[in-house]
Amino acid sequence: SIVSKQYRTAYHFQPPKNWINADPNGPMYYNGVYHLFYQYNPNGSVWGNIHWGHSVSTDLINWAPLDLAIYPTKPFDINGCWTGSATILPGHQPVILYTGMSRDNQQVQNIAVPANVSDPFLRVWTKPDYNPLMTPVDGIHPDMFRDPTTGWRGADGRWRVALGAEISGNGTALLYKSEDFVRWERADSPLHSSSASGMWECPDFFPVPIEGREGLDTSVNSKDVRHVLKMSLMKPQSDYYMLGTYDETRDIFVPDDAADDYRMWLRYDYGKFYASKTFFDAKKKRRILWGWLNESDTESDDIAKGWAGIQIIPRKVWLDSRGRQLVQWPIEEVESLRRNEVHLHGLELATGLHEIKGVKASQADVEVDFELPSLDTADPFDPTRAMDAPKLCSQDDASVRGGIGPFGLLVLASENLEEHTAVFFRVYRDRNTAKVLMCSDQRRQAIFDHLDKPVYGVFLDMDVEKERKISLRTLIDHSVIENFGGKGRACITARVYPELFLDTSSHLYLFNNGSSSVMISRFQSWNMAKAHLNIKLKDLVIL
Ligand code: FRU
Repeated sequence: SIVSKQYRTAYHFQPPKNWINADPNGPMYYNGVYHLFYQYNPNGSVWGNIHWGHSVSTDLINWAPLDLAIYPTKPFDINGCWTGSATILPGHQPVILYTGMSRDNQQVQNIAVPANVSDPFLRVWTKPDYNPLMTPVDGIHPDMFRDPTTGWRGADGRWRVALGAEISGNGTALLYKSEDFVRWERADSPLHSSSASGMWECPDFFPVPIEGREGLDTSVNSKDVRHVLKMSLMKPQSDYYMLGTYDETRDIFVPDDAADDYRMWLRYDYGKFYASKTFFDAKKKRRILWGWLNESDTESDDIAKGWAGIQIIPRKVWLDSRGRQLVQWPIEEVESLRRNEVHLHGLELATGLHEIKGVKASQADVEVDFELPSLDTADPFDPTRAMDAPKLCSQDDASVRGGIGPFGLLVLASENLEEHTAVFFRVYRDRNTAKVLMCSDQRRQAIFDHLDKPVYGVFLDMDVEKERKISLRTLIDHSVIENFGGKGRACITARVYPELFLDTSSHLYLFNNGSSSVMISRFQSWNMAKAHLNIKLKDLVIL
C-alpha cells in the first residue's frame, strides 16, 4: 500500500493531517486576510464526522491553521456541519451559511456569525438560536437539500442564495430570498434546473464582465456582464458550468446553451476536480476559484497515509474574449515560490525525447510554447469519435505515432520511463479547420496496480490555424499535476502516486511522437520552494 510521505504536497494546500473534502467552504477576503474553511474529519483520514477546519493567509500560498470554526453542537447540526459559503453583509459584517445534518438527519441551512468581528482572524463562530433558517419542506427531499451559495443582492434590495437539490429527479439550484438574511422564503421557480442530471451539489453563481479580466462582487448585474452557474454533479463526481444571463425580473438563470446531455456542458477541469467554489477578492479585484482534489488511491491507502484530500492552487477566472467559456490561470502569488529557472530557446523538437536537466521534477512549475509547422501533415479527424475526447486520448495515446503530435511532457517519470504521466497534444485536420486534442494519460503513472488510472482529454477551443502555437503550463507537486492548455482555456488535473520516485530521481521530459517536428519557442521551468502550509499564526503574521 501507499504509506510513503513522498505524496504530501509541498505547495498545494492541505492541513497537517486527516480527511478533507476540501469542498472549499466559505472562502473570503476580509480585512486583509484570506480565509479558507474545509470539510474536515478531526478523527481520521476517511470521510465522516464533518467539522469545518479553518486556515488563514495573507497571500493565498502560505497558511496558518486555526481552531475548528464550526462543529456539531446543536440539534440543527449535531450530525455534521456540511458545505457552505460566506457573504459579507453591509456594515462589513461577514456571515456563513452552511448545511447542518440535524438530529433527525435532515439537511437544513444554518447561519453562523463571528463572535468578535474585531478579531482579525475571525477565530470563533457562533450559531444564533434562530437556526435553522431553511428546512426541507414542500416536496424537498431531506437528503437532497444543501450547500448554500454566497448571497447576492438584487436591484430590489433583497438577498438571494441558491441551494443544491434534486427535485423530481432533476438537478436543481433552488432560490431563496430574504430582506434581512435571517428570514428566508423559497422563490416560486428555481434559479435553474435540468433533467440532464440528478442531484446538484455545491452550486456557485457569479457574474463575469464581458470585457476584461477583473472580477466582480457577486451582486453585480448589468448588460455588461454574463453569469456563470456551476454545479457539482454527484454522478460522475465532476464540476460543470453554464454561461448565461441572470434575468432579474423573473429571477432565473437563462443558459446560453441548455444542452440536455450534461457531457456537452462546460467544465472548469477535465481531470480530477470537485466541489469547487469562487469568491470575489476585493484586494486584487479578481474572481478566484478553489477546488477539491480528492485522492485517486484507496481508502486503506488513505488510512495508512493519515491524510486525504488537497486543494488546487487557486485560479483566477475570467471570460474568454470570444465569450464562449471561462479562462483560468494560477494566481500570480504562486510565482513567488519559483526558484532555479531552467530555460531553453528555439529548440527544434524532432521525433524523440528530450530530458530537462537541472529541474527538481517532483516540485516544479513548467511553461512551454509549442510552435507548429504547417498543419498539412495533421491526421484526418474522424467525426464519429468526436464526443469522447478521453477515449480518443486512450486510443491515440502518446505511443501512437501521428502527423502533428502527440507532443508534450512526460511528468513524474522514473529513470527508465517505467512510470510516467504523459501530458500531450495532437492536431487533427477537419475539412478546413484543425482541432487540438489535449490529453493527460495516467495509465503508467505508477507500477502499483490497485490505483485508479484514468485517461483525461478535451478539445481546446482555439484557432490553431491562426495561432500556430499551443502553450502548456504544468504545476507538479509530488502527487498532483495541474495542466493549463492554450493559456488556460482547458485545464486537466490529475492525482498520481509513482512508486519508483524519489525527489532526486524523478525526471521531466519533452517528447514528440509526431512525424513533423515542433519548435519549442519557449521553455521555462522553476523548482518550486516549499510553501508554509501549516505554520503558527504568529509566524504567518511576520511573513
Ligand atoms: C460535496 C459534499 C456536499 C456536502 C459535503 C459533505 O463533496 O457532498 O454536497 O455538503 O460534501 O461533506
